Amino acid sequence: MIKKIAFTAALVFGSATAMASDADIIKPNLVNGQQLSQRCLACHNESRLEEFNYFPYLEGQKYKYIVRQLNNFKLGLRKSPFMEGEVAYLSRQDMVDVAYFFSVQPKKQ
Ligand code: HEC
Repeated sequence: MIKKIAFTAALVFGSATAMASDADIIKPNLVNGQQLSQRCLACHNESRLEEFNYFPYLEGQKYKYIVRQLNNFKLGLRKSPFMEGEVAYLSRQDMVDVAYFFSVQPKKQ
């Protein structure tokens, strides 16, 4: 019941609110998340982190944090020339899926 109310509220209050609570209302699909993660790992990996000290690890990061950051990039609330192109092709479901996948991987640091 509470989930249903949250979902309806998200629809009523528009995209910003809906995005903020996607982690709560969308059920993550781990298989899709794993497929999507391959592309992310081109940048978010150990060797590039050491090389540039610029690509944050995603493994073991908090699920809701990743969802929120992806939404922020998508909404332009957080700027990154790298990440803007990445989130452009991700749906809300995709962002939840890939966030969930990384959140359940063993932490790297
Ligand atoms: C072309 C390289 C590149 C690719 C590909 C890429 N990212 Fe990023 N990502 C970055 C960079 C650089 C940053 C740091 C942005 C900043 O804060 O300036 C970042 C930041 C992030 C953050 C914020 C991390 C934090 O600690 O706040 C998340 C979450 C994230 N990326 C998720 C993803 C996901 C999920 C994918 C795959 C769908 C992806 N990225 C693909 C380069 C990339």
